Amino acid sequence: ALEAETKSIVKQFEYTDDDVNQAVKEFLRQMSEGLGKDGTSMSQIPTYVTGVPNGTEKGLYMAVDLGGTNFRVCSVKLNGGGTFNITSDKVAVPKALMVAKTAEELFAFLALQIKKFLEKHHGDHFEQHIRRRMTVSSPDGFRDEHAFRMGFTFSFPVQQMGINKGTLIRWTKGFDIPDAVGKDVCALLQSEIDKLHLPVKVAALVNDTVGTLMAHSYGAPGSNGAVLGAIFGTGTNGAYVEKMSKLKKPVVGEYDASTGEMVINTEWGSFDNQLNVLPNTPWDIALDKQSVNPGLQMYEKRVSGMFLGEILRLAINDLMKNPDISFFKDENSSTNDLRSTTDIAEASGVYKMWGVDSAILSVAAGDHTPGLSLLRKGLDDTLHIHAAALEDAQSFKAIADAIGRRAARLSAVAIAAVILQTGKLSDPELKGEPIDVGVDGSLVEHYPYFREMIHEALRIVDGIGEEGAKRIRIGLAEDGSGVGAALIALVAAGMEKNAS
Ligand code: BG6
Ligand code: GLC
Repeated sequence: ALEAETKSIVKQFEYTDDDVNQAVKEFLRQMSEGLGKDGTSMSQIPTYVTGVPNGTEKGLYMAVDLGGTNFRVCSVKLNGGGTFNITSDKVAVPKALMVAKTAEELFAFLALQIKKFLEKHHGDHFEQHIRRRMTVSSPDGFRDEHAFRMGFTFSFPVQQMGINKGTLIRWTKGFDIPDAVGKDVCALLQSEIDKLHLPVKVAALVNDTVGTLMAHSYGAPGSNGAVLGAIFGTGTNGAYVEKMSKLKKPVVGEYDASTGEMVINTEWGSFDNQLNVLPNTPWDIALDKQSVNPGLQMYEKRVSGMFLGEILRLAINDLMKNPDISFFKDENSSTNDLRSTTDIAEASGVYKMWGVDSAILSVAAGDHTPGLSLLRKGLDDTLHIHAAALEDAQSFKAIADAIGRRAARLSAVAIAAVILQTGKLSDPELKGEPIDVGVDGSLVEHYPYFREMIHEALRIVDGIGEEGAKRIRIGLAEDGSGVGAALIALVAAGMEKNAS
């Protein structure tokens, strides 16, 4: 009976070739819609970045990164020639600050980390600054001239008004500080930096996907530049280079129009919030209901690392509660030699909302041992499920794998649609050359065969096919938030000069 129940759950996570193709069409439609007006499901945010780097850029910049697993502070020395040196520190954002009462609490914490970083790694520069500051009458003028230019990677949907100006549209990925919504996040950070008298100017506002796109282009000099930067991590999103002629909604701030292109932050996490094409199992529905943002980020909730563990938890809870079968209970096993007793500690994450870390899906997918020893050890270590029966572990793996596979095939939908949107596959000038996609994030980094599963799905997309898929190179982008943000700070510095 366990086998039959498992099969029935697995079936609900199947995502067929037809499903993929139908979703790609809808994705293209929603992309166009977002380019046309504000307030659509996919925000399609103009970023004011109008070109990708070519590897020759040089200089010393700072970068900070909020929105992934960690808050990172870095300084980046761009050497030209596509190489760089990076110094970085990271710290987890305390959970309480993710839902703080005021924006100030969160941003003060960020500024403090910047101060610690400067003291630790750039003490000389910092002290000189303090000394000079005491002798200069116009501290702000002084700050502009001597400060570190900093790229601020802020990986949430932001309505950008310029390269270092943008108001928060909504929080995602479990953050929830209503006080910050509608405020300029660069100004919030700059104000806390100023309170600590740090020699830092927030020069550029960067989404992590835009950083990833820039970093992947910098790191591959000689190629045509990446067409897409995508994150499959805690959340998921993508940024790509769009022709200005297709961007119909007004772009309010200043930008360099000479390239005829602009990087667009799609915010595809909110693709199809209306559920025209997305799959919607009972567990997807339950997860959405209990989230801090029901009805939003519906694509992200089926794809990214923050959510896959919870979908799995909800599905296996159904099995555990089913009176007709014995799952993670003692009586179940016909192979008693493989375990003595299945004993789940009360403290186990399986009983708690968000209690199952998505990392267990990676363990399940990577376990090819006949007795599933790796997975069973993982269940023991992370979920206090001691000595799980082999059948139970097999069932757990089947469901986990189905959720992971669906996530990868859904990921292929976004990648395929963006590539089709750019028209690069049929561009005669590119004559069959590779199409580069830079990706980053814990899911694509650690989930076994994630990129392979994406590729497999790309092959069956109408308009891509076997030949097209062969040209698409999905590469891990190195250090998007560091190098990418530094590169955009550099672009911003150039824009400041041109304006003066
Ligand atoms: C990191 C990037 O490598 O990946 C961040 O530097 C990005 O900018 C992050 O937000 C996404 O992955 P995760 O798994 O940390 O959400
Ligand atoms: C969420 C954010 C988006 C970010 C993505 C990946 O979807 O809204 O801005 O790029 O997560 O971190």
